[in-house]
Amino acid sequence: MTGKSIAVLTSGGDAPGMNAAVRAVVRTGINMGMKVYGVYRGYNGLLNGDLEEMNLRSVSEIIGNGGTMLYTARSEDFKKPENQKKAADFCRSKGISGVVVIGGDGSFRGARALTNAGVNCIGVPGTIDNDIACSEYTVGFDTAMNTAIQMVDRIRDTAQSHDRCSIVEVMGRHCGDIALQTGIATGATAILVPEIEFNIERDVITRIVNTQKTGKKHFIIVVAEGVGGVDDLAKYIEHRLGIEARATVLGHVQRGGSPTLRDRVVASEMGYRAVKLLSQDIGNRVVVMRDGKITDLDITTALDMERVFDEDLYRIAMTISI
Ligand code: ADP
Ligand code: F6P
Repeated sequence: MTGKSIAVLTSGGDAPGMNAAVRAVVRTGINMGMKVYGVYRGYNGLLNGDLEEMNLRSVSEIIGNGGTMLYTARSEDFKKPENQKKAADFCRSKGISGVVVIGGDGSFRGARALTNAGVNCIGVPGTIDNDIACSEYTVGFDTAMNTAIQMVDRIRDTAQSHDRCSIVEVMGRHCGDIALQTGIATGATAILVPEIEFNIERDVITRIVNTQKTGKKHFIIVVAEGVGGVDDLAKYIEHRLGIEARATVLGHVQRGGSPTLRDRVVASEMGYRAVKLLSQDIGNRVVVMRDGKITDLDITTALDMERVFDEDLYRIAMTISI
């Protein structure tokens, strides 16, 4: 028995695999003799006292569920320093010495603020976007892409039947990772991402024309949310090439669904590591994947890192999707 009490919350956009991380935190904590609270609706739960003590069975049968059993929120209130102090006071009043925060880099800023207010926090990267510079992987990314490729495969069936061009927008906020990998996995003729400067004539029209010359009659163009403009692009392709074009924005379908094996396993490993850190009274860290291994970094070091887009993978996509 360590006699410690800790809490876990999910914050920002939900991501498949968040439940697996919550489960790992609860089970690891209880296994180490801790009391573990589940905090509802992100940081708001710490401001409203919306939390519950978890037991081993509280997290039964959630590992395969999408969404988050703890609900999530984007809390503007928590950005105010007086509320961060209020949340820290609340944690102290419950004897909570550490909090695991599962979310994106906004949530990590919140975790840093709460640590500065006196409650050790550990961040676990949970977002479909894979946009956290310090970690090669974020929980939810694999499931979102697997959903995206299923959807694009279906769109391809109808595009092929009509000899059309289908333009598909995928999520990712300012990050092109979902678009890049989905584009490769579905054989997209062009992939537009915010990280790579593009020219519609060169990178879309000419690529379509070149593949037409080799006999291709239907085309998939994958566009990252950070580029957008898919309706206009469809109209432009119709006008320039006389091919029928249709635009689809995949949207929130990518956020739901049962997490893949990868998301369940990575979430479990990350949740476990977060509790191990708290058990040693270590806070202000983010659990990350680096060189394929789960490790941890100081939150400020992590937040200061710059994301590097995988240009080699982009070049491979452009070479083989012809
Ligand atoms: P994500 O965690 O997915 O990046 P957000 O950027 O919406 O999502 O952040 C989630 C929540 O984290 C915010 O609603 C807010 O409660 C908290 N947060 C974000 N930035 C800060 C900050 N600078 N200081 C304190 N809390 C923050
Ligand atoms: O961060 C996850 C994400 O789904 C992004 O890909 C997208 O830009 C955003 O959240 C959508 O946010 P909301 O849930 O507010 O529609």
